[in-house]
Parts: sequence; structure tokens; C-alpha cells
Amino acid sequence: MHPLLERQIRRHLGDATAIPEAMHALFQAIGEAYEHADADRRLVEHALDQMSRELTERNRELQRQLVEKQRTEAEQAALIKRLEEAHNQLLQSEKMASIGQLAAGVAHEINNPIGYVNSNLASLRDYVRQMLAVLDAYERAEPLLPDGGEREDVLAAKRAAELDYLKADVVALLDESSDGIARVRRIVQDLKDFSHADRGEWVLADLHKGLDSTLNVVNNEIKYKARVEKLYGDLPMVRCLPSQLNQVFMNLLVNAAHAIDKQGVITVRTGVEGDDVWVEVADTGCGIPEALLTRIFDPFFTTKPVGKGTGLGLSISYGIVHKHGGHIEVKSEPGRGTVFRVNLPLHSSVDEDADHE
Ligand SMILES: Nc1ncnc2c1ncn2[C@@H]1O[C@H](COP(=O)(O)OP(=O)(O)OP(=O)(O)O)[C@@H](O)[C@H]1O
Ligand SMILES: [Mg+2]
Repeated sequence: MHPLLERQIRRHLGDATAIPEAMHALFQAIGEAYEHADADRRLVEHALDQMSRELTERNRELQRQLVEKQRTEAEQAALIKRLEEAHNQLLQSEKMASIGQLAAGVAHEINNPIGYVNSNLASLRDYVRQMLAVLDAYERAEPLLPDGGEREDVLAAKRAAELDYLKADVVALLDESSDGIARVRRIVQDLKDFSHADRGEWVLADLHKGLDSTLNVVNNEIKYKARVEKLYGDLPMVRCLPSQLNQVFMNLLVNAAHAIDKQGVITVRTGVEGDDVWVEVADTGCGIPEALLTRIFDPFFTTKPVGKGTGLGLSISYGIVHKHGGHIEVKSEPGRGTVFRVNLPLHSSVDEDADHE
């Protein structure tokens, strides 16, 4: 008999012998019904067990798939990043190439005429000196002329020409012209230094020279907006790609000038800290809102009107500094100004061969 039925009979009837004969069949049927109910319950429990095991297994599988998906996504992100970097490099070398070609072309075109203007000026100065000597000799002979007639003519011509002023001024004019030509020659030299004289070459370079020639090249963009203060420290020679670093300095200087609305100061500082050399370009311009600080190095991010900025300057600079094993830091206070600091390792472990163009 089913134990549950047995307990119930004991509780209500005392013991099984008290069951009337006529009801034996009924109790038998109840006992069997209990047995069936038990069997059904065990079946359901078993089925539930199985289902729960399957669910756990399925869960585990999903988890595995999730991890796998995350891994492929991370791989894809890394790939996209590398692609972006390669793209930037390409844009940078294109930009460099066109600036370099332009600069080299202009430098070449200007060099020839400047050469002969310079040598003609030297001859001219010689000739003028000789002519002035002849004039002096004539002047000394003047008193020998009889009064009136030719003597009056000579004096009138001298007055009309303001000869004394002219004699002083002609030399001054020649000096000024020589100065002007010397300046043009320096600009041409700066353009050459700035551009491709060292394309892709790792050399030991004087960063101050690079900064100075870059400052001369961008002088036009800066001079109406800002006074440039140079606070150079003692820098050792740095192994680098100078024309590319000049490109970085140019971007920072032009950005600084653009940030200044009317009149401001751009301060260029340099120094050594630990194993790094650093170059700082600080401006008293509009500053950068905190929310934009993480985006300014993104390619094509610009707040400038169409045609004024491409948004590539900083991303290219970032790439170049990164290539040198260094990094760029930026601090900004909206309304007060911005400081960009380029840190370059003195003993870098960059793979120089990878960067020959
Ligand atoms: N010194 C600075 N002061 C304020 N904002 C700056 C400064 N330097 C950069 N920025 C901000 O960062 C943005 C991105 O600079 P980035 O040099 O990359 O591009 P751009 O100057 O806009 O264009 P370009 O490609 O001609 O350099 C600028 O548009 C500007 O909003
Ligand atoms: Mg820029």
C-alpha cells in the first residue's frame, strides 16, 4: 500500500483491518492513483531537470559566442585604427609633398633672379661710387668756370636735382636694396630648409634652427596678430626627421595665430626634462572648450569655416610626433589661451628604417 494512504487510514480509521470488506477495492484503487501521481511527479521533475541542464548549457554557449564576438569586434576596431593611421600618413605625405614641391619650386624660381639682382647691385654700387668721385672732381673744378653763362647753368642743374641730397640718398637706397635682397635670400633658404632638403632622412638636428626657419616661413600669418616670444632652453641635437618636425611646429604656430582674435602673444619655449626634450607653443587666444579637447586630434575635426581649415593639422602632427616616439600634450583655458607641448625622447627606440619615404 502507498505510504501516504497508509498514514491517512491510520489517522482516520485506526488501522487497515478496520476497513470494511466492501471498500477494499476502493482503497486499492486510491492506492494505485497515489502511485500514478508519484510516477507522474517524478517524470515532471526529471523533465525539468533535463531542461534546466540544457538551459545552462545553452547559456554557456551564448557566453562563449559573446566573448568571441567581442574579440572579433576588438580586432576589427584595431584594424580600422591601423587603416586610419595609414590613411593619415598618406594624407600627410601628400600634403608634405605638395608643400615641399611648391616651396622647392618657388625657391628655385626666386634664386636665379635674386642671384643676378644681387651681383648687379654690387656692380651698381661700384659704378655709383666711381661716378660720385668723378662728380666730386667736377665740383672741385667748378670755381674755375667764369661767372655767369655755363657756371650758372651748372649751379641751376645742381639745385634742380638737389645734388647734395641725391648723393647721400643714392648710397642709402643701394644699402636698403642690398638688405632687401639679403632678406629674400634668407627666406628662400628657410623655404629650402623647411621643405624637402632632408626628406625622410633621420639626422641629428638643432630644433631651434627648425623653429626659427619655420617662424620665418609663417611670419606672414602671425605678424599682424601676435608678438612672438622665444624662450629657448639649452637643447642637445635631436635625432629626428627635421622637415616633418617643422611641419608640426608650423601647424602649432598657425593654430595659435588663428586662435588669437586681435592682438596676442605666442610664446615658444623649449627645454629638457629627464630623457625628453620638449617644445611648447603657447598662445593667449580663445582656448579650447573641455568637451572638444578629446576631438582636436581627430582627422578632419575643425571649428574653422570651410576653406580656412581642413582639420588635418593636429592629426598629422600627432602622427609625426608619434613616429618619433614622442607625444603631444595640450592644456587650455577657454578665453585665456592654450599650450601645446611636444615631447620627444632623446634616446628613442623608433624603427627609423620603417619611415624612409
Ligand atoms: N591653439 C589653439 N587654440 C584654440 N583652438 C585650437 C588651437 N589649436 C587647435 N585648435 C582647435 O582644434 C581644431 C583642429 O585643429 P587642426 O590644426 O587639426 O585643424 P585646423 O586648424 O582646423 O585645420 P588645418 O588642417 O588647416 O590645420 C581647430 O579647428 C581648433 O578648433
Ligand atoms: Mg591647424
